[in-house]
Amino acid sequence: MRRAVCPGSFDPVTNGHLDIVGRASQMFDEVVVAVLINQSKAGLFSVDERLEMLATVSAPYANVRVDAFQGLLVDFCHSNDISAIVKGVRVAGDFDYELQMAQMNYGLGGIETLFMPTNPKYSFVSSSLIKEVAKWGGDVSPHVPDLVANRLRERFASLPKAV
Ligand code: PNS
Repeated sequence: MRRAVCPGSFDPVTNGHLDIVGRASQMFDEVVVAVLINQSKAGLFSVDERLEMLATVSAPYANVRVDAFQGLLVDFCHSNDISAIVKGVRVAGDFDYELQMAQMNYGLGGIETLFMPTNPKYSFVSSSLIKEVAKWGGDVSPHVPDLVANRLRERFASLPKAV
């Protein structure tokens, strides 16, 4: 069984993430989308909400499952029999940091990282930018699944704008 992980914060999942997950699912027997539980950084969505959105939008991919993890990614890989980390690279700037993490993860646990060029349609899409645009009522529907666009609208409608 060749198993890979697509790790991230996924706050929230974007079409760019989903494109990488879908492509990875064609290369591996199983892909685990793993949401980092970050105690020191509250997200817009709770980890459970992110998992629920991820599970719904990745449902068309039969060999993709979602999970959450805390601590080192390599430890999560070892306990789930995962041999590779798949990361999307949008622009050259992404690569500098991703390369450092890949080298650290290989050194820590012998886990390989595969870089997948982001589809150019999504090269400017990030969860933070999506949140910024959605917060002020901008249209994010081309960049996120419909479910996520709706959840963003609901969430920001219930939050004070000045936050
Ligand atoms: O979506 P993000 O926030 O860019 O994802 C970053 C993530 C979750 C992939 C990275 O922060 C991570 O792997 N964190 C787990 C802790 C860890 O293993 N750190 C050492 C990596 S070199």
